[in-house]
Amino acid sequence: MRSVIRGIGSYLPARILTNEELAKTVDTSDEWIQQRVGIKERHIAAEGEFTSDLGVAAARAALDNAGLAIADIDLIVVATTTPDYTFPSAATLIQMKLGMHHGFAFDIQAVCSGFVYAVTTADTYIKAGLANRVLVIGAETFSRLLDWTDRTTCVLFGDGAGAVIMERAELADGEPERGVLSSALRSDGRHWDKLYVDGGPSTTGTTGVVHMQGPEVFRHAVGKITDVVYQSLEQAGYSVDDLDWFVPHQANKRIIDGAGAKLGLPPEKVVTTVDLHANTSAASVPLALSVAVADGRIKPGDLVMLEAMGGGFTWGAALIRW
Ligand code: ACO
Repeated sequence: MRSVIRGIGSYLPARILTNEELAKTVDTSDEWIQQRVGIKERHIAAEGEFTSDLGVAAARAALDNAGLAIADIDLIVVATTTPDYTFPSAATLIQMKLGMHHGFAFDIQAVCSGFVYAVTTADTYIKAGLANRVLVIGAETFSRLLDWTDRTTCVLFGDGAGAVIMERAELADGEPERGVLSSALRSDGRHWDKLYVDGGPSTTGTTGVVHMQGPEVFRHAVGKITDVVYQSLEQAGYSVDDLDWFVPHQANKRIIDGAGAKLGLPPEKVVTTVDLHANTSAASVPLALSVAVADGRIKPGDLVMLEAMGGGFTWGAALIRW
């Protein structure tokens, strides 16, 4: 039995904020941003457009892509750091907005690694017999956690959402393998203050803004990412050469290039969307996946490695036969 991907979709808010526009309000430049992180522009949610709205739009696109209705889903897992409210979860709001009155829904908080954690969670629930068809969403309005006067963080992030539908499949003898083959998850809370938001219900009672020790995050990123990629490959009995596609968390072009080079992957196998989306945290991997599926790069039968790293630190990788 496997959890296979039945459909995929994504959503980006209409408003695009370019580097040039940002440079009018904060002391930065298009050249600095492109050279250091490879970002040209990002999408920003409109006033009154919430994380659950982005998630609903991505979910509808994934349901359409799968040829399914919300009645066919029995679990919604939402990876987000920017829920509409402290509670209830974004997942239950999305459940309501999609008109789903059965099953169950919950959020996962692993910041930028959230989608990889959510895929692994959905796979585990399916394999445990607790769910048959899961709507897995990564949705963020990260722009609402930024200090727009802090040039060291505000240039890096954007808003968006991506979703996949995972379902239980019994593969017949001799049928080619499909679905989630393995995953490797890690966290280490000793690094919590290298990337965090300085607010929360139990500390300040405010929402807070992002703080980051950029060079420290950079120093840890490539090694941690490649560790879990190797672990996930080894568990499934594959090597880097078997990969058709590497779909990394889209934080930073230099981290993506560094991880690809350390793994020995040819750049044409690496899916990169950070230039147009910036870092959308838990939404970045499903957004990148969605782009590469829609443009025909990722095809049925391809071996696809997802990976992410984020605040906590958390990090993880998941290997999928598309
Ligand atoms: N525009 C212009 N100058 C800037 C900007 C900006 N947007 N941001 C910082 N600078 C300046 C700094 O103020 C500093 O100036 P100073 O020397 O006069 O003090 C100078 O640039 C160098 O600053 P550093 O922080 O040392 O710059 P660095 O070369 O390390 O690059 C960066 C910073 C791009 C953030 C890098 O550390 C990095 O990529 N880190 C990884 C962070 C990341 O990707 N985070 C995403 C979230 S984590 C995740 O998802 C994995």
